[in-house]
Amino acid sequence: MNLEYQSGFGNEFASEALPGALPVGQNSPQKAPYGLYTELFSGTAFTMVRSEARRTWLYRIQPSANHPAFIKLERQLAGGPLGAVTPNRLRWNPLDIPSEPTDFIDGLVGMVANSGSEKPSGISIYNYRANQSMQRVFFNADGELLIVPEQGRLRIATELGVLEVEPMEIVVLPRGLKFRVELLDTQARGYVAENHGAPLRLPDLGPIGSNGLANPRDFLTPVAHYEDLKQPTTQVQKFLGELWACELDHSPLNVVAWHGNNVPYKYDLRRFNTIGTVSFDHPDPSIFTVLTSPTSVHGLANLDFVIFPPRWMVAENTFRPPWFHRNLMNEYMGLIQGAYDAKAEGFLPGGASLHSCMSAHGPDGETCTKAINVDLAPHKIDNTMAFMFETSQVLRPTQFALECPQLQNTYDACWASLPATFNPNRR
Ligand SMILES: [Fe+2]
Repeated sequence: MNLEYQSGFGNEFASEALPGALPVGQNSPQKAPYGLYTELFSGTAFTMVRSEARRTWLYRIQPSANHPAFIKLERQLAGGPLGAVTPNRLRWNPLDIPSEPTDFIDGLVGMVANSGSEKPSGISIYNYRANQSMQRVFFNADGELLIVPEQGRLRIATELGVLEVEPMEIVVLPRGLKFRVELLDTQARGYVAENHGAPLRLPDLGPIGSNGLANPRDFLTPVAHYEDLKQPTTQVQKFLGELWACELDHSPLNVVAWHGNNVPYKYDLRRFNTIGTVSFDHPDPSIFTVLTSPTSVHGLANLDFVIFPPRWMVAENTFRPPWFHRNLMNEYMGLIQGAYDAKAEGFLPGGASLHSCMSAHGPDGETCTKAINVDLAPHKIDNTMAFMFETSQVLRPTQFALECPQLQNTYDACWASLPATFNPNRR
């Protein structure tokens, strides 16, 4: 099949894999074309204000309701329940990719979360590692999924069509969308933010104006593609953190036509129009926000997805790395490629760090000393892509995250080498 995408963000998209499969002028005719069944797929409450509402009409071979009872799976998600509370700064080396057969679901491992899975709110963050394509189909009743590949290309077959993504691209899958993750390389690894709150959207631009950061036309949504397969298929769902499965006699990726705005999409982070200072100091990192999930408090995000892409540094008389800071927000960082400009070592592609509410952090000793003494010629930070999942509620590590050998027990030491430079006799 040829991969095709529709461009835009939040649009009322429409697509049909057979000519005339999409009803015209109404959503639910008495008889849908081709003998298809009509189904509404809602991502927000029916009564949500129009600008926030997400829903898609599906025209499919079998309605989703045609399934037997789900049975709880023996093998549950890795990561375990949340562990002990800690205010400490934490950092992890990359997790190994298992040698035993592992698909995307088996390879998901819970790292941190705002809340226990039995009462999901805020966000939950996972790493994934896989060496096999899924043979089963999955949907997540607990939230929207933002997938950030670090290694390996993925082909994600969804109810609404097929997306292919590679490292440096991201994909967002609405809550409840059925999908199958196939590997296009021998193995895959990356990060997943599960958003239990309001669906992700583009941030407002304020004084930046009507262009810049992530531009809407660079978001790509698939076209309709269906599987008319009458073969046994396992359908797995995550419901309040638990995995349940049922056996179907057909592929549930059987939507022939659809229209709406509750859709999966992908975005190439290399398309991000990075904006920064051209005089002195540098803006808050919110200037690097790709997508945001707001809370009911204006300006307070449930989830901000923020990237640190290649960019020119030109600020005069300025400490150019991220400043030392203590924030209200909680920051989970990952690295897709290269090195992050605030850390000389220890933060690796596939690794992660957690800086919780009011925990003090910033550049390590080596980076700081260099930044104070460097000649401030314009230079480009290149070959890098770090990112941050930022959330307003505290992120608690899972038991796995606190006990795994990848947890660095010397992270605090990276700030211990900050030189004593204060001299009351020298201004
Ligand atoms: Fe920070």
